[in-house]
Amino acid sequence: MARSELVVMTDHSSTEGSREVLATAVRALTGRSPVLVDARHYMTGGTGRITGTGTPGAGSPRADGSRPDGPRPDGPRAEGPGVGGAGGALRLEVPAEGIAVTAEAVLVYEVPPHRRRDFEAFQRLLRDHGARSLGTDAEAWRTATEKDLTIERFVRDGIPHMPTVTLSRPTPEAAAEAVDRLGGDVWARPTVGMGGSDVFHVTTRAQLAAAARHYAEAGTDWLIARDAANFTPDGRRHQYRVVVLDGRVVRTVEHVQANPDAPCNECRGAVSTLLEDGELPGGLAELAVAATKSLGLPLAGVDLAAENGGVVFEANVHPVFGSVGGLETVAVPYAAAHLGPAVGPRTPGVARQPGA
Ligand SMILES: Nc1ncnc2c1ncn2[C@@H]1O[C@H](COP(=O)(O)OP(=O)(O)O)[C@@H](O)[C@H]1O
Ligand SMILES: [Mg+2]
Repeated sequence: MARSELVVMTDHSSTEGSREVLATAVRALTGRSPVLVDARHYMTGGTGRITGTGTPGAGSPRADGSRPDGPRPDGPRAEGPGVGGAGGALRLEVPAEGIAVTAEAVLVYEVPPHRRRDFEAFQRLLRDHGARSLGTDAEAWRTATEKDLTIERFVRDGIPHMPTVTLSRPTPEAAAEAVDRLGGDVWARPTVGMGGSDVFHVTTRAQLAAAARHYAEAGTDWLIARDAANFTPDGRRHQYRVVVLDGRVVRTVEHVQANPDAPCNECRGAVSTLLEDGELPGGLAELAVAATKSLGLPLAGVDLAAENGGVVFEANVHPVFGSVGGLETVAVPYAAAHLGPAVGPRTPGVARQPGA
């Protein structure tokens, strides 16, 4: 019987670098390298296969409810019975890359937001097979990824956020009316996006028209939300990224952005500072945990501002590990959460490596 491996599954077309950090975390925890699998093989049309090795004959259902012995839909292939819970063996095979691995756990990360719908069928198969993975909840991913759904969920659960309107190819009049209703000073963002891309501060009719054109050309729906007025006393923007794992805050970072019209994302020039325990304004840790729970995510990087009593902008399914301390604060605990209690952190000192 092949020994089982930890699999780190990410989209290898993504360059954010999280898979290397996760691999380092796995090595620090177990002394072994994980098997790196490209998530694209398990997206719609991919040729990756997943096989359970439990009792023969049952046949685990596919994402569409059909059985493995029936006609195949496009996308990831499922064969054999589900293992029905953690501890069963799971095989992942990617013939195109000569990968055939018995997976003890599957760490999913760095699947770009716009590819996630194509990954949902595989997430359901992972779940059907009882995979040990924190990445199997397709519904939670979708609710967090599609920001119109996020806002609907926050409204349902009373998670504080700035008043928001969703727009889909609005007429100029409808867009202007929505902006006026929100007070005239708004931020526009696409329903699916990341890293502050295609996010605009809109305070004039000309800016609104430019934003509307931009989203129409991209063919995307968008949101506008009242400006959170998240200014430091000296007029810079600031906000927090709070990473929550299993209901617990594991990392808190403050972002400060000198340009008041630019999104407060690190990749847009915001300066990021790792905070110590107790440095986050009161109530925000609880707010981040509540937002994560509302979306049903086991891990989330919650973007929030302290102003207006504390408001959440969004929750990231796979927060980038960040320039400082991401290995120790997020990657190691996230990887450890995929290991059974018997194989938990054995060498915690090793995890504190500089420079990763
Ligand atoms: N209503 C708002 N008020 C102030 N800043 C906002 C508002 N909406 C968005 N932003 C800024 O734009 C950033 C990007 O929006 P966000 O929802 O986090 O999407 P992304 O996935 O691109 O990071 C936010 O983190 C924040 O800095
Ligand atoms: Mg963000």
